[in-house]
Amino acid sequence: MSKQEVIICQNFAEDLRQALAKHSYDKLFILTDDHTYRLCWPAISHLPCLQGAVSICIGPGDIHKNLETLAYVWNRLSTEGATRRSLLLNLGGGMVTDLGGFAAATFKRGISYINVPTTLLSMVDAAVGGKTGINFNELKNEIGAFAPASTVLIDCGFLKTLDTENILSGYAEMLKHGLISNTAHWSELVTFDMEHIDYDRLQQLVAQSVKVKEDIVEQDPYERGIRKALNLGHTVGHAFESFALQKRPVLHGYAVAWGMVCELYLSFLKTGFPKDKLHQTLRFIKDNYGRLDFTCDDYEALYGFMKHDKKNMASGVINFTLLGEVGDIRINQTASQEEIYELLDFYSEIMG
Ligand code: GLY
Repeated sequence: MSKQEVIICQNFAEDLRQALAKHSYDKLFILTDDHTYRLCWPAISHLPCLQGAVSICIGPGDIHKNLETLAYVWNRLSTEGATRRSLLLNLGGGMVTDLGGFAAATFKRGISYINVPTTLLSMVDAAVGGKTGINFNELKNEIGAFAPASTVLIDCGFLKTLDTENILSGYAEMLKHGLISNTAHWSELVTFDMEHIDYDRLQQLVAQSVKVKEDIVEQDPYERGIRKALNLGHTVGHAFESFALQKRPVLHGYAVAWGMVCELYLSFLKTGFPKDKLHQTLRFIKDNYGRLDFTCDDYEALYGFMKHDKKNMASGVINFTLLGEVGDIRINQTASQEEIYELLDFYSEIMG
């Protein structure tokens, strides 16, 4: 997989101009959803390098991350005369960059694309690393391709349009990057004041966070080994997310944060993760993310979701990424039903 260029913008207009100048494209297309068309596009539409671009706007949110929307994007590219030399710029959160990336990867067997992520979650995760795709048959990201953007332009100025919940959702993935990298970075993250956000400091942390992801993706672009480190918190997190969907949906990062509480406890039990760091991390999560409500009557359903996680390699064997220490990654770990029920007990007790 070719390496993508990730730029933490100091001067977005100039960085974008330079990124576009590297392509000899015949036509430029801008993909937004209704939200980013309204909130983000006006901030950049005046730029000389974007004049003449064709705008494609799709519905927002995960419910639109489907084949129908993808076909609409293909159709617009086709009817507006896109060729193999055309360029697509995805302006939005993870839904826009995932779907837009897949549209670009498949249109005429692949055209180049640039990601301009506008949410914290997409800046530190979705827009970086080349995973693209759509949901299919009610399964998340079931159809997709590894297809990196040529450039990812990260401008933390867009974060000012985000509400606190969406900042926290993205921040959970940053916390994950801290846990899988080193104690100094993790420590900065768990002491960051989320109630009075210092955006300049946040931008520096975002840059460090993206670097953690880039380094891992560079070692293992197709997730055959170490890229599974990025799944920390996601086995339980996805189960929480699917469970919540039946009652009141929660943002992805919240589910991942709660999933990390459980998986760090499992790390403490099985791979010797230090107790003090477990408690410091879960204190931060409890203070900022609250908790997901469930009772022991729900354990079976939660366990069922974990058993059907697509990260599992053998039927019924649940795959976890655990830690021996901050930065000491142990991929391909498993846990028994008894251990999983124990970690749900721990979560209920400590987060209650
Ligand atoms: N979101 C995890 C990954 O990109 O591998």
